[in-house]
Amino acid sequence: MKKLTAALLGSTGAVGQRYISMLERHPFIKLDVLMGGRSAGGNYGQSARWLQADAIPEEFAAKKVLASVPESARGCDVVFSALPAAAAAAIEPKFAMSGFSVISEASAHRMDQDVPLVVPEINPEQLGIIEVQKRRRKWKGSLVTTPNCTATGLVMVMKPLLDRFGLARAIVTSMQAVSGAGFPGVPSLLITENVIPYIKDEEEKVVAESRKILEHPVEGGMRHPGIEIAISCNRVPVIDGHTETLYGEFPGAVEPDEVADSLSAFRGLPQKLRLPSAPEQPIIIRDEPDRPQPRLDRLSGSVPGMSVVVGRVRRGIGDNSVQLTLVSHNTIRGAAGTAILTAELMQNQGYLGRPG
Ligand SMILES: NC(=O)c1ccc[n+]([C@@H]2O[C@H](COP(=O)([O-])OP(=O)(O)OC[C@H]3O[C@@H](n4cnc5c(N)ncnc54)[C@H](OP(=O)(O)O)[C@@H]3O)[C@@H](O)[C@H]2O)c1
Repeated sequence: MKKLTAALLGSTGAVGQRYISMLERHPFIKLDVLMGGRSAGGNYGQSARWLQADAIPEEFAAKKVLASVPESARGCDVVFSALPAAAAAAIEPKFAMSGFSVISEASAHRMDQDVPLVVPEINPEQLGIIEVQKRRRKWKGSLVTTPNCTATGLVMVMKPLLDRFGLARAIVTSMQAVSGAGFPGVPSLLITENVIPYIKDEEEKVVAESRKILEHPVEGGMRHPGIEIAISCNRVPVIDGHTETLYGEFPGAVEPDEVADSLSAFRGLPQKLRLPSAPEQPIIIRDEPDRPQPRLDRLSGSVPGMSVVVGRVRRGIGDNSVQLTLVSHNTIRGAAGTAILTAELMQNQGYLGRPG
């Protein structure tokens, strides 16, 4: 695979740090340019408030944090963005306009009609929108987004249920880790020994984004498959790993064992292509009555943190429903990992190129 040089917007944040850990030993993506906001101008080692257990990789600690402008990324093939939404709204289009392929975690452009919102295992075909985007916006580069961390784990589980059993309705409760709010995030006096039953705009985002991802492309637009989703989002005192319970209803009877088998058997295009960040098994089923748990299961799988772990698959109110619990790592599968996997897929499909 051709080597790619990458730049990172928002490099000092909670998600930015995950990119640094995940790209340290990547087989073909070399992270070369670190950009920041207030920290621009300093050395990464001094500017970043490092939250990972392992030390900052040496090659990055001494790197200068550059200003978040297209000139900083000169020579790069791909620009990852871990910017907050407001900064992303202003900054990302400047990079795309200048010819860069931008892959963003931010919510600012996710719901734009001509911006792909991608989880590589679930809707790789949505990358096809890039051509429309370039024509419409007259951009030399492109902007691709990845979903909200709660939506990512959820759509990975809903997609096989939709394809195989025609999932019609999903009622979801999330228990979301504090790292999902970035750094410094939720004050300790609010979250310690507590559950906060409200995360601003989160429920609306999860529903809208899940629907955009699960839409099937048809000629002349997108068609919604008719799935109804209701979610209650809660912040809980867990550092990493979002837990979600799902109650799913189907048009006909379903057997919990068949549901578990079809989730376990699910594979996507990244697995077929053997992309380096693709876990061999995107959905891992646990049979124990008390799993999954975020502390025990968030780093499961052949690429730690990239698999969604599902357990407690059981019958719901009647024969047409099932209930289950899932855990997915919010800053890996829910953020940096899915964006890196998207870059690997875009490289494989010929979507990445250096600005001319
Ligand atoms: N945390 C998660 O689990 C998660 C999951 C999925 C998606 N996301 C999304 O990913 C993005 C980053 O989240 P995070 O949790 O990493 O946030 P964060 O910890 O607050 O980090 C924000 C980063 O953006 C930079 N930044 C802020 N304002 C800027 C500006 N005006 N210009 C240039 N750079 C600026 C900061 O740099 P300085 O420190 O130098 O100012 C920092 O590097 C957000 O859009 C978030 O919604 C997060």
